[in-house]
Amino acid sequence: MTQNLAGASRPAPVPAAEPIAASAGASRGWWRDAVIYQVYPRSFADSNGDGMGDLPGIRSRLPYLRDLGVDAVWLSPFYASPQADAGYDVSDYRAVDPMFGTLLDADGLIRDAHELGLRIIVDLVPNHSSDQHEWFQRALREGPGSPLRDRYHFRPGKGENGELPPNNWESIFGGPAWTRSVNPDGTPGEWYLHLFAPEQPDFNWENRAVADEFRSILRFWLDMGVDGFRIDVAHGMVKQAGLPDIGAGDQLKLLGNDVMPFFDQDGVHEIYRDWRKILDEYPGERIGVAEAWTPTVQRTANYVRPDELHQAFNFQYLGTSWDAAELREVIDVSLDSMRPVDAPTTWVLSNHDVTRHATRFANEPGQGTQIRTAGDRELGLRRARAASLLMLALPGSAYVYQGEELGLPDVTDLPDEVRQDPSFFRASGQDGFRDGCRVPIPWSGTEAPYGFGPNAGGPSWLPQPAEWAGLSVEVQTGDPTSTLELYRSALAVRRAHPALGAGTEVTWLEAPEGVLAFRRDSAQGSFVCTSNTTGAPVRIAAPGRILLSSADTEAADGEILLAADSTVWWAV
Ligand code: GLC
Ligand code: CA
Repeated sequence: MTQNLAGASRPAPVPAAEPIAASAGASRGWWRDAVIYQVYPRSFADSNGDGMGDLPGIRSRLPYLRDLGVDAVWLSPFYASPQADAGYDVSDYRAVDPMFGTLLDADGLIRDAHELGLRIIVDLVPNHSSDQHEWFQRALREGPGSPLRDRYHFRPGKGENGELPPNNWESIFGGPAWTRSVNPDGTPGEWYLHLFAPEQPDFNWENRAVADEFRSILRFWLDMGVDGFRIDVAHGMVKQAGLPDIGAGDQLKLLGNDVMPFFDQDGVHEIYRDWRKILDEYPGERIGVAEAWTPTVQRTANYVRPDELHQAFNFQYLGTSWDAAELREVIDVSLDSMRPVDAPTTWVLSNHDVTRHATRFANEPGQGTQIRTAGDRELGLRRARAASLLMLALPGSAYVYQGEELGLPDVTDLPDEVRQDPSFFRASGQDGFRDGCRVPIPWSGTEAPYGFGPNAGGPSWLPQPAEWAGLSVEVQTGDPTSTLELYRSALAVRRAHPALGAGTEVTWLEAPEGVLAFRRDSAQGSFVCTSNTTGAPVRIAAPGRILLSSADTEAADGEILLAADSTVWWAV
C-alpha cells in the first residue's frame, strides 16, 4: 500500500498550535472544522503496567496527538465505575476511577492539552447511571414508595404476582429492558428500566433532581476546564409518557428506522436548550456533541439547532458502504440537512462501538456494523485509506478513532473467555462484538503490549495480535507509505489548504461510474477530491496537481490512472 506525495516531499510540518487559554477570545467556531480524535482510555496508553490504559498514559502521549495534527481529543468515560459497560456505567460523575488515575491527573491532562493547543472533550452519560450509584442504591434500600425511586423508572410488574415486566421493551444489549429488584426484606420487588445492561438503570428525566444534578455535573467539568461534552445516548433521556408497549417483538431491528417510545422523543430537545445556556456562560466556546442514533439525518439536525448542541455524529455516513453512488447520496443529504440549522456536518467512520472501517470494508457490504470475520485485509486497508482521505476532504468536522490512523483492523478472533462487552453475554443483543475495536493500540517494540504498557511482556486487558508489532507508531513513523504518515500528511494539508475544513458545499464533477469527484472552492484556491470506489483502475483527465494520494497513482499527459479503491487530493 503506497501513497504519492506531491514531489515526493511531505507537506510542511503542522504549525505549532497556539496554547488555548481558558478565556480564549473571539468566537471563530473552532468546532466547525475541527478534527476530533477519540481516545478510548482503557486502550490508549498504560502508565503503570497493570494492563489498563490510564490518564497519566494519555497525558504522556499528548505530543503524539499534537504532531498528528488533530484539534481536539474526546475521551470516553474515565469516571468512577464498576465497569459493567466499560465505564458507560458511572457510579460517581465527579470522580476519576482509581484504575484511570485521580482528579489531579485529569486536571494535569486538561492543562497539558491546552498548552499543546489541543482541546479536551469529555463523555457525559446522562441516560443512565451505574446500579452502584448512590442514588440507585439508596432507592433500592428505601423500598417502594420512596421518593428516591422517582429518579429512576421503577414500576410494579404485571401478572398476578408482579412477575412480568411492566412493558415489552427490549434492551439494546438483548433481553428485556426491565429487571426485577429485590425488596429490603428480600422478597421480589418492583422492576426498573434499563435500555442497556441491568447494571445501567435509566434515569427519569421528568424528575427535577435529575435535571439539577446534571446541570451541576456540567458545571463541575466546565470549571475543570474541559472544552465540551460528547453526550452518550443523547436521544434516549426522555421516554414517551406512560411507557407504552411497542407493537412488535425483535425491536432492535426497528432501531434506526422508526421513532421508538424511548428514543428521539421531542422532549429531549428541552434538555439541550437548557444545557446550551450553561455552555454559553463559559468563555472559550465550549461545545456539546450528540451521540444520537436517529432514523434520518434530518432528525439528527434537530439536535444541533442554533440554541441546542453544536455537533451530532453522522451515523448515516458511518453506515454507508464503499460505493460511489451511496456515498454521494449520503454526503448530499448530510450537507442539505445541516445547512438550515447552520451546524457543521460531521463525518465519522469508526468508534468504540462499531467494527473498525478497515474490517467493515474488507467484508461484503450490508452486514451492519458488528462484523465477525476478518475478510480480505489488504482490500479493507486499501479502502479504509481511501475512505479516510475522502472523509477528511469533506466540509465540516471529522472524527478519528484511536488506531484508525495506524490502519488497524478489528480483532475478530478474540477468544470468548477474554471478551468483556456486556452485550456479548446477553442473547441477541445489538452490540456483542465491540471488544474487537477496543484492543489496546501498538506504539513500539516487538513484544506485546507493544509499548501500550511500560514493560515488554507486560499485560494488556485484551490481547493484541502478533501482527500488530508491524503496525506500531514506531514502525510507521517516517515510512512514507504508512497509513500513519498518510494521516499526518492529510491533516497537515487540511490545515494549510484554504478550501479544506469548514464549509457547507461541494460541487460534484462529472466522473466515470464508481468514481466520486467533487470540488471545493475558496477565494485563495480550489481543491478537488477524486475517489475510485471500484476494484479496477480508472483513467480520468487530471483535474489539477496531486497533493496527496491513498495509493500509487500514475499521471502522464494530463491524464491519470486512479488506482483501484483509492482517493486522490488535487490542488486546482
Ligand atoms: C453509547 C456508548 C456505548 C455504550 C452505550 C450505553 O452508545 O457509545 O459504548 O455501551 O451508550 O451507555
Ligand atoms: Ca494502567
